[in-house]
Amino acid sequence: MRPNKLSAGALQQDSVAQRLLSPKLTLQTVLKPSGLKTLLLQSWLPKKLWCQALLIQCVSLLLIASIAPSVINSVFAFELRSGLGLSLDSVWFWLIPHVLLVSILSRAANMPVWWRWIHIAFPLAVLVMQQIALPAIVYLSGFVITLALYWSVHNTRVPFYPSFPVTWRAMHQLLEQHAGEQPLHVLDIGSGLGDVSLFLARQRPQDQMDGIEIAPLPWLVSAIRARFFASRTQFMLGDYRQTDFAKLDVVFAYLSPAVMADVWHKVSKEMRPGCLFVSSEFPVADVTASRIIYPSPNSPALYVYTL
Ligand SMILES: C[S@@+](CC[C@H](N)C(=O)[O-])C[C@H]1O[C@@H](n2cnc3c(N)ncnc32)[C@H](O)[C@@H]1O
Repeated sequence: MRPNKLSAGALQQDSVAQRLLSPKLTLQTVLKPSGLKTLLLQSWLPKKLWCQALLIQCVSLLLIASIAPSVINSVFAFELRSGLGLSLDSVWFWLIPHVLLVSILSRAANMPVWWRWIHIAFPLAVLVMQQIALPAIVYLSGFVITLALYWSVHNTRVPFYPSFPVTWRAMHQLLEQHAGEQPLHVLDIGSGLGDVSLFLARQRPQDQMDGIEIAPLPWLVSAIRARFFASRTQFMLGDYRQTDFAKLDVVFAYLSPAVMADVWHKVSKEMRPGCLFVSSEFPVADVTASRIIYPSPNSPALYVYTL
């Protein structure tokens, strides 16, 4: 059966040829001015946002470099010749139209709002950086630190951002209620700088609080902190997806919505009945949490799942 309505998702998945040949598309979209824009942009734009961004920056630079000199020469002819201080060499002559054009193109391409801001900030940042002329080692260090911090985000789909003390305290209360004085083995999957495990290890010395982290820099910081505070906590450098959860009593996660289904699959397959899986901020879709804790009005909720 032919669909009688083309959704945005369907539009994106069709091949360019299908889209151009589709009679539905012609009727429903091309006849409208906005439809024509959508057709042209969605047909030729790459799917990945960063590819779209790169393309938009390049197209705008090419257009500005080819059209701007003649436009500027005719619009500002008098000012340029009369020595009013305007010069074609001024970078602003190029930057302002470029910034305007990239923001129009990114809007037309329906990019998320934050990408539009990146589009505007990026050329300005390049200009500022060029003018303050920092030594190359600063950029190299920035690159290495970013790499060590965000490491394999393209693969894990979970970047680093720390949780807050209210979350750690709520977690502590939960462990007190769950086990009382009974020792527990708790693992923070994606332990970042080690905040959660180190805090819980101080509050409940009878427990074994461990962490596993894939990115080298946060892992190194957590391992040094554990050594410095003489904590029993062990921080492993590795991928929680390769770790067996069978011997754990509690798994704590502060990850991202993109991975919750996979995490739940692993948790429900490997953890024993009665054990806890706690996710900060991101619930598991289609699974009802046995408890939801709101540590404070402005902090993320803790979703507690009892196996
Ligand atoms: C949002 S941070 C949370 C940090 C810490 N749990 C906290 O509450 O402060 C998520 C961390 O998980 C790490 N991570 C993501 N995927 C991972 C994986 N497959 N194995 C181990 N760590 C991972 C990231 O590098 C990042 O440091």
